[in-house]
Amino acid sequence: MVIFSQYITYFMKIYLLSVSGSLYSTQRLFNEASRRGHYIRIIDHTKCGILFDDNQPKILFNKEDVTNFSDAIIPRIGASYTEHGLAIVNQFEKMGNYNIASALGILRSRNKLLTMQHMVANKIPIPKTLYTKNTLLLKEQLNLLEGEQCIIKFLEGTHGLGVMLAESKKSAISIIETMHSLNKPILIQEFVKESNGEDIRAYVVGDKVVASMKRSSGGKDFRSNVHRGGSTSVITMTDEEQHIAVKTAQCLGLDVAGIDLIRSKNGPLVIEANSSAGLEGIEGATKVNIAGEIIKLIEKNVKK
Ligand SMILES: Nc1ncnc2c1ncn2[C@@H]1O[C@H](COP(=O)(O)OP(=O)(O)O)[C@@H](O)[C@H]1O
Ligand SMILES: [Mg+2]
Repeated sequence: MVIFSQYITYFMKIYLLSVSGSLYSTQRLFNEASRRGHYIRIIDHTKCGILFDDNQPKILFNKEDVTNFSDAIIPRIGASYTEHGLAIVNQFEKMGNYNIASALGILRSRNKLLTMQHMVANKIPIPKTLYTKNTLLLKEQLNLLEGEQCIIKFLEGTHGLGVMLAESKKSAISIIETMHSLNKPILIQEFVKESNGEDIRAYVVGDKVVASMKRSSGGKDFRSNVHRGGSTSVITMTDEEQHIAVKTAQCLGLDVAGIDLIRSKNGPLVIEANSSAGLEGIEGATKVNIAGEIIKLIEKNVKK
């Protein structure tokens, strides 16, 4: 920690937890932190371990002891490394690092059921959703959802994979029974038809939405995911939508998050939260320097 006398620039030491320095988001965060005068190093969390010894735990990166060096961490934990990534992020947190996405927040956002339970407890509007394992009463329970069509979702899918649209309650029953027989927990959700294959990605940094874009399937799919062929465009969010997005990120424990909303006839509904939201699509669509905003947030939160 050094204060450069006359510029009062606070020099922070940041570890960027990422599997590869060639990823767009990793590069952008690295470049913005360097440009703002900070020390930043990419640490591949999959090569980290923890040594618990005499109540003095150490974080090891390959053979190197990386304990008690950094002021802050930026976790970029991919879905395939959640459990291990969480262990490492949690350990850095315990050692006093400021963290833009708490281990608990990552955990909550990786599972759509946990996310929903947490959002509903915090009065965040979500689509009406059923979670059940009761095959015998399935038909009756499905009737609690409005409309003939419904959405069936895996709890931990991403990029639109693991989200299905059942055209009727009858076909929903056969899909749900199949999922239950495979021991795959699912959510059953009212299909918000008027969202029209579109959703809004709000990029929350601290207490504001710094950028937002619309993703649209262009009528080709009910899913708007870019990985499923969706296109992006700039969108202006209402004050209410922005407020909901910020509140969602905060209640989950994420200082930085991508919050996804759909517009329904009853107002905005949050469908998911992403703790390692990509920067490429949204920086490209909106021309906002989101990486720079994230580094500024860290500057604000690292104690001088
Ligand atoms: N209840 C719903 N009603 C209408 N469309 C939905 C609903 N839930 C999801 N979608 C559409 O499907 C897409 C993928 O769903 P989402 O829950 O975000 O899963 P994933 O984590 O795979 O992105 C959303 O971006 C949205 O376009
Ligand atoms: Mg999504």
